[in-house]
Amino acid sequence: MSFDLAAYLADLRREVDAALDRHLPPKDAPPAAIHEAMRYSVFAGGKRLRPILVIAGAEAVRGRVEEGGTLNRILPTACALELIHTYSLVHDDLPAMDDDDYRRGRLTNHKVFGEAIAILAGDALLTLAFGLLAEHASLEVVKEVARAAGTFGMIGGQVVDIQSEGKSVDAETLEYIHRHKTAALIRASLVSGAMLAGASPAIFKVIGEAGTHLGLAFQIVDDILDVEGSLEELGKTAGSDRRKKKVTYPEHFGLETSRIKAKSLIEDAKAALRPLGPRAEPIRALADFIFQRRS
Ligand code: IPE
Ligand code: IPE
Ligand code: MG
Ligand code: MG
Ligand code: MG
Repeated sequence: MSFDLAAYLADLRREVDAALDRHLPPKDAPPAAIHEAMRYSVFAGGKRLRPILVIAGAEAVRGRVEEGGTLNRILPTACALELIHTYSLVHDDLPAMDDDDYRRGRLTNHKVFGEAIAILAGDALLTLAFGLLAEHASLEVVKEVARAAGTFGMIGGQVVDIQSEGKSVDAETLEYIHRHKTAALIRASLVSGAMLAGASPAIFKVIGEAGTHLGLAFQIVDDILDVEGSLEELGKTAGSDRRKKKVTYPEHFGLETSRIKAKSLIEDAKAALRPLGPRAEPIRALADFIFQRRS
């Protein structure tokens, strides 16, 4: 029987959303403005890809994680990855960065709450994430996520992304940006799940490799969708990259070559996962989803 990705995504999104609701402070807890702003962006309806990759990473080591014990042990880490991702989106949309008005189908955080609260909401989501990891994950997971989110990971990629606006950069710099701003956190998601499930060094290496390929493919597809998608599909304004003169794969290589590169990274990820056998089926299905998605 083939893997039912739609049911897998629906089940896990429900679990992740319920866990996020438990871990975020109530909307009316003082100072209410910040808690409302945090919840506004978290519950605006993201795909929840990173937390689902945490769970799929654990399943690639241990087999299917059903409701209850094992899943409950992993969920706080899955939530932490989603909180870090959401913080990165709130800050990425600020006027000083990509200056975008829509995210996840609604006005961006700073458009609703103002820039000061949006900056603080991002800070607060990041801080909450590391608090959750400290309480529920292992020290090695904390270190892995800190590295992926920091200046040698996501923030480093965001820095070079901003510095490259309006410039023509070589393919190595373009790949650097995408590997760091996006692939680092996607890799860390898969790897954190695998670590919590007690992966051996060999399995850990394979999953990390697949995560990097999937993360780079994810950002190339994001660039393609910025050209081909619409506000209705994406929940964010299409054409934002061209407006900001961003360096992107379609800009550098053209749409068709970008699609071929993304597809070949998906195949590389699947090849890396081969030693894991059927347990990596959820990751393989997610790999196809990353390539085929329209939002
Ligand atoms: C958008 O990520 C930002 C990138 C890293 C490209 P997603 O496309 O996963 O955004 P959500 O979480 O579904 O809103
Ligand atoms: C964002 O890349 C990567 C982050 C770390 C947030 P983009 O700037 O391309 O993401 P979107 O298109 O705004 O979602
Ligand atoms: Mg950006
Ligand atoms: Mg952006
Ligand atoms: Mg984009």
